[in-house]
Amino acid sequence: MFPSERPRRARASPAIRDLVRETELSVRDFISPMFVDETLDRPRRVASMPGVVVQTPTSAAEEAARIEALGIPAVLLFGVPRRKDEEGSEAWNDGGVVQRAVRSIKDATGLAVITDLCLCEYTSHGHCGVLRDGTVDNDPTVERYARVAVSHARAGADLVAPSGMMDGQVGAIRRALDAAGHQGIGIMAYSAKYASAFYGPFRDAAASAPAFGDRRTHQMDPCNAREAMREMRADAEEGADILMVKPALPYLDILAEARKRFDLPLAAYHVSGECAMLRAAAAQGWLDGERAMLECLTAIKRAGADMIITYLAQDAAPLLGGG
Ligand code: PBG
Repeated sequence: MFPSERPRRARASPAIRDLVRETELSVRDFISPMFVDETLDRPRRVASMPGVVVQTPTSAAEEAARIEALGIPAVLLFGVPRRKDEEGSEAWNDGGVVQRAVRSIKDATGLAVITDLCLCEYTSHGHCGVLRDGTVDNDPTVERYARVAVSHARAGADLVAPSGMMDGQVGAIRRALDAAGHQGIGIMAYSAKYASAFYGPFRDAAASAPAFGDRRTHQMDPCNAREAMREMRADAEEGADILMVKPALPYLDILAEARKRFDLPLAAYHVSGECAMLRAAAAQGWLDGERAMLECLTAIKRAGADMIITYLAQDAAPLLGGG
């Protein structure tokens, strides 16, 4: 009569729970985002991103060393330049803020350095590329992303991460890297990047909010899941080495489906607004911040992510035995 299956047997003690655990979060899964702002002469806190400090060109290497000491294997770099223009040309300056940061971090640490390739921090209008009739013009923008990628590769980046959601960007960047002799530099493709409300705090840190309009003509509609699979398939065919889903928690269905369909490594970007929600609730005493953080990050891994880009990496690392 009574069920012979009693799942509680497998939960009876911490030791048994250890044995049956299916998913284990590790500090080695984390990528820590880092902002470097060339207009600063001392590091700056971001009000909407408690815990995030925007670095100066000289403090970036010290911050990287702290990240490495915690056992975190990689950083994702974003630059804020002094000079912005219509096309974002400072982004492919070999002496630019990201290029200098890459060199100093590679000199100081053994971290993998990944660079974001978007132009929104570099354009005077805050859009992700060059404009025509008020929207981002795809092909000329892709041509500029390719120049940025080659410049980052020359500086020593290990992986470049195109985040602009332009059609054909991965293929164009792959061809440009190869033509410049950088066959060994990989591409982490922001493949399924949604037009999300959760990027708000990031735009404060990176000074990259669009001056008018939004990003809905290139970032994905949150209503669409099959379309994300097409985006990922296209990026895989164009030569991506890692596929990404962004944001993470509201899109775990996309991540889980991608895990079933693709063999490539999968990254999930736990974005600024997801982090802000956790921090705000914890600060109010409404959530146990540490437990909620680990639960969220574990959920992202359980859904299928091999690696997690998160502003919480440095907070979570010591709780996972890092450092
Ligand atoms: C660049 C870019 C953005 C984020 C990462 N790369 C902002 C955007 O698309 O507006 C957001 C990351 C975050 O919110 O943590 N385009």
